[in-house]
Amino acid sequence: MAYFNINHHQHSEDLLIVGKRDINQSYYVLTLKSSYQFPLIEPGQFVNVLVDNSPTTFLRRPISIYDVDFEQSTIDLLILKAGDGTRKLAEKNIGDMVNLLFPLGRGFTCDASVGKVLMIGGGVGLAPLLFLGKQLVNEGVEVHTLIGGRSKDYIIEMEKFELLGKVYISTDDGSFGEKGLLTANSIISELSAFDKVFTCGPDPMMKAVALLCDAYGVSCEVSLENLMACGIGSCLCCVEDTVDGHKCACTDGPVFNTKLLKWI
Ligand SMILES: Cc1cc2nc3c(=O)[nH]c(=O)nc-3n(C[C@H](O)[C@H](O)[C@H](O)COP(=O)(O)OP(=O)(O)OC[C@H]3O[C@@H](n4cnc5c(N)ncnc54)[C@H](O)[C@@H]3O)c2cc1C
Ligand code: FES
Repeated sequence: MAYFNINHHQHSEDLLIVGKRDINQSYYVLTLKSSYQFPLIEPGQFVNVLVDNSPTTFLRRPISIYDVDFEQSTIDLLILKAGDGTRKLAEKNIGDMVNLLFPLGRGFTCDASVGKVLMIGGGVGLAPLLFLGKQLVNEGVEVHTLIGGRSKDYIIEMEKFELLGKVYISTDDGSFGEKGLLTANSIISELSAFDKVFTCGPDPMMKAVALLCDAYGVSCEVSLENLMACGIGSCLCCVEDTVDGHKCACTDGPVFNTKLLKWI
């Protein structure tokens, strides 16, 4: 079925691949075009992708919304080839269709009440931060970005973030930017100068960022990458234990303020 409404704004739809960009051997960007005008899409929301050419990928795969062009009705997805599903998806070409369930979840708090923010992305955790950064800049917010990766090859899409504001880089091996973990970057010592931190990346990284924000007294929102299946709150496989009880990362999140998580 080409278009199927789940509720007043979430739906399943076949979108046309109109752009495909291989960043390197591990990462690629798909641009997908809808035949319809998009509903409201918040930064931090995600799509659940049907990988129809992979017999081992029975369940849809959750992917953050990397960028949106509301005028063209296109959505960009930044994808890491992690396993069968994301590799099979990489075999699709311009002109092929991809079925998405979207827009799903609750996104970042994106308003002009904050003056200066630091976005922190580890690896493919950068994905939900570009659209967020663009919206914050439009709201007049000063946006800085800290990007971390294993080595130079894992620092991707830096130029896009440089258009938003200052960018800081850390690599584990020191092949680019400062050497060491992203949480040891010198900008971290200036954390109290920021009104808010938004982060996404591997769990240990996000937990370390949450602890640092707590220590510096800065509000922090994280986008969880819990394993997901349905993406719409039905299967309960993505549950996160919070101070308000068990919450579905796919419907109550994936974005949570770290004060709600039992991390600190
Ligand atoms: C809300 C949300 C947003 C996401 N956004 C993006 C994105 O923008 N770009 C992107 O490339 N990936 C994103 N992911 C992760 C992505 O969903 C997984 O990498 C993907 O499902 C792996 O599918 P696969 O079939 O290729 O690999 P599989 O064969 O299923 O798994 C391969 C490896 O990836 C790990 N993996 C599987 N699912 C996840 C997961 N949810 N998080 C972390 N590791 C996982 C597995 O443990 C395994 O080690 C997101 C996940 C969530 C929950
Ligand atoms: S993925 Fe099914 S409830 Fe969240």
